[in-house]
Amino acid sequence: MSIDPKASSVGIASIGLQLPPLAMQVEELARLRGQEPAKYTIGLGCREMALCSDECGVVELAVGAAKRALDRWHGDLDDIGLIAVGTETAVDMSRPLSAWVADGLGLRGAVRSYEVKHACYGGTLALRQAVEWKLAGAVDPRSDKRAALVIAADVALYAEGDPGEPTQGAGAVALVIDDARVASVDPVSFPWSEPAFDFWRPVGEAYPRVDGAFSLDCYKRAAQHCFRAMVGDRDPNAAIDGLAAICFHVPFPKMVKKAVAQVGEGFGWDAERVAQIFDQKVDPTMHWNRLCGNAYTASLWISVANALRGLSVGDRVAAFSYGSGFGAELLMLGAGPDAAAGAWAADVEADLGQRALVDAEAYSSLRAS
Ligand code: HMG
Repeated sequence: MSIDPKASSVGIASIGLQLPPLAMQVEELARLRGQEPAKYTIGLGCREMALCSDECGVVELAVGAAKRALDRWHGDLDDIGLIAVGTETAVDMSRPLSAWVADGLGLRGAVRSYEVKHACYGGTLALRQAVEWKLAGAVDPRSDKRAALVIAADVALYAEGDPGEPTQGAGAVALVIDDARVASVDPVSFPWSEPAFDFWRPVGEAYPRVDGAFSLDCYKRAAQHCFRAMVGDRDPNAAIDGLAAICFHVPFPKMVKKAVAQVGEGFGWDAERVAQIFDQKVDPTMHWNRLCGNAYTASLWISVANALRGLSVGDRVAAFSYGSGFGAELLMLGAGPDAAAGAWAADVEADLGQRALVDAEAYSSLRAS
């Protein structure tokens, strides 16, 4: 498929990440809940769950990531004409999280500002809208409002003792959408949605309700549809071999492994071929996810930020987004000239270097506060 040169020049110009100041190893949670640690570490593939504090919640994560992305970008705050925040950690039923972030940044004026909700898919939708906003020519050519600021930020908490508890996490990724210095975003993508109650949070309830096994089936089915559509009538081996990395929404790493197996099965691959693709192109992208847990909307973009580091110009990356409810979309990215240096890794290194590990007792106090 040939891509319009104008389209291939639009994409991610800068990335910033922010992780919270606390974390707990899942073995500690296993101790607290009387579970075998291997259930969490091997059964789910989890390692550490990032935790927020009184001082750092979803707003601080989103603002922190946005400041870092803007500092790294060659434009100014005055050039931002759109701010969209994908989140399912809304702090108000009316006022969008983007208003809190704009407050934190000092962003106001001729700016479109809004929040996007579709479970973990909200950040991807915000990014798609920002790319389409730029490509559609909706920007007044007489203004300097040429770039969009997209943020995916969430704090994932389950009820204490819920089977989802070991998959908890938090984090934020901010992406400036402008020229594709970090990565181009193909205008064509591959969505799939089905109305379902796999994971949802009724208004007024603090924690999600989950139909666990069903949610796994929905995720796997969505992945199979999206990858099949992306491959089309091409040879799946050639289509997948042509990718430098394949990133997924990571509710927990074992979910991604199961999805790769299902996608591979659809392509007629044997277990050895599935394992080869998973080990070479998928597993390495989840390194940061294992250290922060499920950050809902930010989860896929944490994986993408990790995968882009070190890539050469033109290297192709697939990004599979899934949000319960459910909606999914497979995006195709191409590495830009700033991908190789991967400057945003400094954000993760700084946050991991400073964060404190809490034990089970401190975690219980934190939950009680
Ligand atoms: P569970 O009760 O822990 O499930 O809940 P389980 O008993 O089936 O155990 C899990 C795995 O541990 C199994 O492995 C066991 O065999 C294994 P599998 O057979 O599936 O490969 N196991 C052990 N392994 C080693 N040593 C042991 C041991 N014991 C057991 N001793 C569940 C698991 C995922 C359902 C739960 O964590 C949950 O409800 N999570 C939340 C929902 C979720 O993450 N769903 C994923 C798809 S939906 C999604 O991604 C959207 C989401 O991000 C939200 C959004 O969009 O906003 C969640």
